[in-house]
Amino acid sequence: MDFEKVVKERRSVRDYDGNRAISDAELQRLFELVKLSPSSYNLQPWEFIVVRDEENKKRLLGCTNGQKHIEQASATVIALGSMNPSGKAEAIAADRTGKGAMDAAKKEAFFARVKSLTLNEADARLWAVGSTSLAAMTLMLAAENMGISSCPVGNFDERKVKKEFGIPQDYAVVLLITLGYESKPAPERPVRFGYEKIVHLEKFGNNAEG
Ligand SMILES: Cc1cc2nc3c(=O)[nH]c(=O)nc-3n(C[C@H](O)[C@H](O)[C@H](O)COP(=O)(O)O)c2cc1C
Repeated sequence: MDFEKVVKERRSVRDYDGNRAISDAELQRLFELVKLSPSSYNLQPWEFIVVRDEENKKRLLGCTNGQKHIEQASATVIALGSMNPSGKAEAIAADRTGKGAMDAAKKEAFFARVKSLTLNEADARLWAVGSTSLAAMTLMLAAENMGISSCPVGNFDERKVKKEFGIPQDYAVVLLITLGYESKPAPERPVRFGYEKIVHLEKFGNNAEG
């Protein structure tokens, strides 16, 4: 599909055809695109739990203030962000070194920088959420391109999600994303503020003309 069309047609869909499944092959195709998302230092903090089993959907529903599309969707993806950037740093450094893009000095600076990313929990969370949110957007656009609708869900009890799905403490639950085939089109798109309201040229307050 044309990129502009994908962006324009993606909507937050909350009514799904509960009889249509998302296959392993479709998931694989989606996540092969998701992995290409940009991330801080290419550290790729994202990991995902795909929930398709009916019992597990019910457990997730119980963490989301009863948002019924969680249960109705073919799958809900729990997007996790690791708050430990060192986790993949060794592999990233080895890749850069192997490609001739990282010498010993650069490697040392890289590890020092990685260490400094998450000096406290607030920084660690922000760091994990940034890159993982971009991956979540890739997932929603990739799904739209395959004719699969989605909805981001931020209204959930993180502690409950972690407990129900065995998620370690050093991961942030960034977003849930329902996926499926819509049974009813989304209502008219809610208002969007345009170019002149959201863009400042050169300095804050110098809004662009519409
Ligand atoms: C961070 C975030 C959290 C959201 N949380 C929820 C949610 O808990 N439940 C829900 O139904 N929609 C949720 N949404 C979807 C928004 O309501 C939706 O994107 C917005 O109304 C614009 O509609 P559109 O996506 O169809 O253009 C969330 C969106 C974002 C980006």
